[in-house]
Amino acid sequence: MSHVVHRPTQPPETLQELYAPIRTELDDVEQVLRDELSSRYPVVDQLVKHGFRLGGKRMRPALLILSGKACGGLSRDHVPLAAATELIHTATLIHDDVLDEAALRRHRDTVNARWDNEASILLGDYLLARAICLASSVDDPFACRAIGQAAKSMCEGELRQVIGRGNYALAEQDYLDIIAGKTAALCACCCRLGAYYAGAAVEQQEALSRFGQSLGVAFQIADDLLDLLGDEATTGKSLGSDLAKQKSTLPLIRMLSQLSAGGRDEVMRILAGSDNHYAAALEPWFERTDAVSYTRTKAGEFVRQAASELAVLPPNAARDQLARLTEFVVNRRH
Ligand code: IPE
Ligand code: IPE
Ligand code: MG
Ligand code: MG
Repeated sequence: MSHVVHRPTQPPETLQELYAPIRTELDDVEQVLRDELSSRYPVVDQLVKHGFRLGGKRMRPALLILSGKACGGLSRDHVPLAAATELIHTATLIHDDVLDEAALRRHRDTVNARWDNEASILLGDYLLARAICLASSVDDPFACRAIGQAAKSMCEGELRQVIGRGNYALAEQDYLDIIAGKTAALCACCCRLGAYYAGAAVEQQEALSRFGQSLGVAFQIADDLLDLLGDEATTGKSLGSDLAKQKSTLPLIRMLSQLSAGGRDEVMRILAGSDNHYAAALEPWFERTDAVSYTRTKAGEFVRQAASELAVLPPNAARDQLARLTEFVVNRRH
């Protein structure tokens, strides 16, 4: 049976539409980022500004702000903390582009492509340092602790992925654990901080943290599909690096689990080859299995789980927006 690769027919809601009710707060976050991302040394200044010129989706700040609003309102700590999480996220992307030897990020050439790996490592560290300064500028040390824990989980996830490169026998559960660390931990942290600094009850903080965790897993599953099927002009980043860097992601794990021993050998032969067009070479193999639809279904399960966590919150506009964000996460093309 042939499984056609379905792409969603309905264009997902745009981020501009989704973010419209928090535009003022997100503009304040941009202002903090602009203020933070400067250095009196011109060479450092140029590097620091490079990664921020076009900006990304700003999903982590949006999660933090929306979680705060959904739990009763923002304090003056929300905007600096939202900026801190975006700095951490950007630092991880700059480091990730070294690992993936990526050339394109946020529609611009990567720091490693324009400068080099050394500059990328140090710039990522610099952004982390600025994030720590920002997070420690709020009186209550809760944020620093939560961000430290999230950063630890992210590093563990990335380390497990790097060390496990080429392990095509990776179990689905191990894959899910890795992405829970490398991607979801920061999303969970953002939601928890939003709730905590809004004075939410512990039960609501925990529910929002679980919301962010499930959303983050779904987000990375969707990202792993985009790496395979997405369009670089739309995503604005280098794609195809998961296969090129021998990362086992869910579509591949599922495809391999569905093939006969002979089919698996054939796929292994392609993966071991030096021709870099792995996604194109493997497309017929993906279509022979349900790997793509299975992966979409998994992402859907995680966003449904995320959405169910919102039930403990009082009904309000921010809660509805968080629910709409879950839809965006699985339908997005960038
Ligand atoms: C990319 O994150 C890295 C992943 C965790 C998949 P985003 O897709 O949120 O990147 P930007 O911030 O929009 O550039
Ligand atoms: C990296 O995952 C996620 C991080 C937490 C840094 P990816 O390698 O899939 O991210 P992209 O696709 O390059 O943005
Ligand atoms: Mg990458
Ligand atoms: Mg990716």
